[in-house]
Amino acid sequence: KVLTMRIVMVGAGYVGLVSGTCLADFGHEVVCVDKEEEKIAKLRLGAVPIYEPGLGELLLANQASGRLSFSTSLKDAVEGADAVFIAVGTPSLAEVGSADMRYVYDAARAIAEVIEGFTVVVIKSTVPVGSGDEVEKILAARLPKDRFAVVSNPEFLREGAAIEDFKHPDRVIVGVEDDRGRSVMHAIYRPIERNAGPILYTTRRSAEMIKYAANVFLAMKVTFINEIADLCEQVDADVLDVSRGIGLDDRIGAKFLNPGPGFGGSCFPKDTLALTKLAIEAKAPIRLVETLVDVNEKRKIAMARKIERACGGSVAGKRIAVLGLTYKPKTDDMRDAPSLVIVPELQAAGAHIVAYDPEGVKAARALLSGVEFADNAYACLAGADAAVVITEWDEFRALDLQKVKAALGKPVVIDLRNIYPIKTMRALGFRYVCVGRGLAGEGG
Ligand code: UDX
Repeated sequence: KVLTMRIVMVGAGYVGLVSGTCLADFGHEVVCVDKEEEKIAKLRLGAVPIYEPGLGELLLANQASGRLSFSTSLKDAVEGADAVFIAVGTPSLAEVGSADMRYVYDAARAIAEVIEGFTVVVIKSTVPVGSGDEVEKILAARLPKDRFAVVSNPEFLREGAAIEDFKHPDRVIVGVEDDRGRSVMHAIYRPIERNAGPILYTTRRSAEMIKYAANVFLAMKVTFINEIADLCEQVDADVLDVSRGIGLDDRIGAKFLNPGPGFGGSCFPKDTLALTKLAIEAKAPIRLVETLVDVNEKRKIAMARKIERACGGSVAGKRIAVLGLTYKPKTDDMRDAPSLVIVPELQAAGAHIVAYDPEGVKAARALLSGVEFADNAYACLAGADAAVVITEWDEFRALDLQKVKAALGKPVVIDLRNIYPIKTMRALGFRYVCVGRGLAGEGG
């Protein structure tokens, strides 16, 4: 039986909305609080501001059951709450690169003003090690120590698979320093223990470190296979075989070994950078991570040069069709997307870009200038001198390749995600350039 907990989620952004909705679905009573009145007004009507498969339905169902509600008033929401989650953003500080903790500390101060009985304050935002101690200080400045506990509970969900990841996680990490905090967290996550992975209890600082170490390790895997892919192109080996071959070793694991145009998104770029800053401040610099940040940045620019080579050395005056703009499929998120570097690089080299993305066009319009947006993939390809796949949407895998060839002005495809079979592309008469697949990686 689920012991119903009263939970407040501060921040109705990506992590807050998904976590709040899923916790309500576990059977808890959840109020999501955000300062943005318009956002809350829309959420009350059941309108989800982000694209995430399954979120809309789950939100409506839990709203209808009365377990999930939305408010702009932290004070009202917090009344009688067992736990208040902080799920606000921690963006990179401009120029510095470390995590901007302003929103987390603002939230902590606001919470300190309004909590009444014993309340567990849970930090879900990704924060530098030691931030839990700071939040504790903020609360202790206003409240007696026995009225609150501060817990670190990092989130590992992936965009596009967020609901599934939240409900069936590999593990839940709870960094907690006292028994009362631990028993509230146990009650909150009991349904997960039944469904899936274990709950790992650690110290607060270890939990904060686990989040960065996990994200950075995954970013490192992607960066590693990207560099191996480049090497494969030079020595005529196929990176897909290499990935499979090394991934069968359990110690390495098969996931996150798909080469591409470099990692993007709301987490990897920000967290890799933040960890390097944290390490430097702690006088234990991590050179491996410093290097991968640099390698990943340069990779996006290198992709533009690869496209130029595939187009015969120059894209000047050419019409280049770009398929996929978001940093990965099944999201409308454009944050740190490789397309944001590749497209302007090609434009600077004189290309005219026509682009299509199943979900990302709205966000992309605000971020990319001088781009012509098409309504569908075939319209995007029409008359272009080359097609470039930047994001591996299933819709692009399913394209009729004969029609693709007929639509293009010149049969050149640069596939930065390796979604098409080389043999088929060659048989159809394309000049097909992909990533790390022997000499085919460079169209040889
Ligand atoms: C990531 C982590 O997976 C998640 O645990 C954490 O909570 C937040 O950051 P997300 O940003 O949603 O999640 O995307 P993810 O699927 O991990 O991909 C990150 C980036 O790596 C994308 O740009 C993706 O295209 C790239 N990637 C991933 C590859 O290029 N190759 C791969 O094999 C895997």
